[in-house]
Amino acid sequence: MSKSLIDPFERRIEYVRVSVTDLCNYRCGYCMPEQGVHPEGHHAEYLSYEELARIIKAFVDLGVSKVRLTGGEPLVRKRLYELVEMIKPLEGLEDIALSTNAHHLEREAEKLHLAGVDRCNISIDSLRPQRFNKITRGGDLEKVLKGVDKALEVGMKPVKFNMVVMKGTNDDEIEAMVDYGIEKGVEVRFIETMPIGPAGVSMMDQHYAADKILKRVKAHVGADLIPSTDRSDAGPARNFHIAGTNARIGVISAVSQHFCESCNRVRLTARGVLALCLGQEDSVDLRTPLREGISDQELQQLIINAIAKKPERHFFNENVHNIEFRQMVQLGG
Ligand code: 5AD
Ligand code: SF4
Repeated sequence: MSKSLIDPFERRIEYVRVSVTDLCNYRCGYCMPEQGVHPEGHHAEYLSYEELARIIKAFVDLGVSKVRLTGGEPLVRKRLYELVEMIKPLEGLEDIALSTNAHHLEREAEKLHLAGVDRCNISIDSLRPQRFNKITRGGDLEKVLKGVDKALEVGMKPVKFNMVVMKGTNDDEIEAMVDYGIEKGVEVRFIETMPIGPAGVSMMDQHYAADKILKRVKAHVGADLIPSTDRSDAGPARNFHIAGTNARIGVISAVSQHFCESCNRVRLTARGVLALCLGQEDSVDLRTPLREGISDQELQQLIINAIAKKPERHFFNENVHNIEFRQMVQLGG
């Protein structure tokens, strides 16, 4: 069986984002409806760690080298480090990453890092406590900042900050976030709002284009931004070194730029649906066949067949209102 997953557009799929839960203790307006999703969600609907590990193994056997654990908020699931311990030994898995709001990170960072989480991305949209609380509808900035320090202290590398820039809400903090990133030695990634799910669509009037962000960063640091050519930077983000420093920044401009040519990933939801594109409905249920007892070989074949259906690109620009079919909180960013 082939050792690499190539989609119909010659893109190599080497990265799987695994949502371990669609629950979250925060309610960011661009991601979650205020009341949360699927309040009736039953425990058994979610893949167990054993099931998640089995699917991840199938991907790794097919050549995937990077896994990111995400949510919802992954740390609301108990003992996440146990899942990490299960997948860490997989041969060919080079990189285990985490995306978190960092609310529970102070408590969990050490266990996660010991278990094998190499790096983490932390969502942080404001450095002002009250504003942060409002954006996240209940978040505690102080806890998050302690989580950041803990992640750095235990040696997660790199730690990155994700800031979703929203016009009129937090766009006045772009410069402050650059400074905080430089102070902590952490790369900041500025993200444009994306019209995914009703929550995402509702935020598009606050869309702030990445090129404007880059101009402001450049003016603020008074240096050139040099596009990164690191191999580890492959994927839709555009990354830059700030000339004359060690600092880096990145932008993710799903709407104002086309990033699909470099797409190298698929997403697994917590209920076992393989989503082939962030902005298209195409998906394949893996949970049902898994629970019907398919073999490892059959699971790999299902994945190969799914990748053959990966769409070429999203249609955010043409069709903003057509993609309300699922919530970002289920896809994990
Ligand atoms: N637009 C842009 N980014 C989003 N995220 C979630 N929803 C959206 C959206 N509608 C990203 C944020 C957050 C991560 C969990 O997912 O970067 O930090
Ligand atoms: Fe939770 Fe992250 Fe979504 Fe905010 S963006 S509601 S922290 S999953």
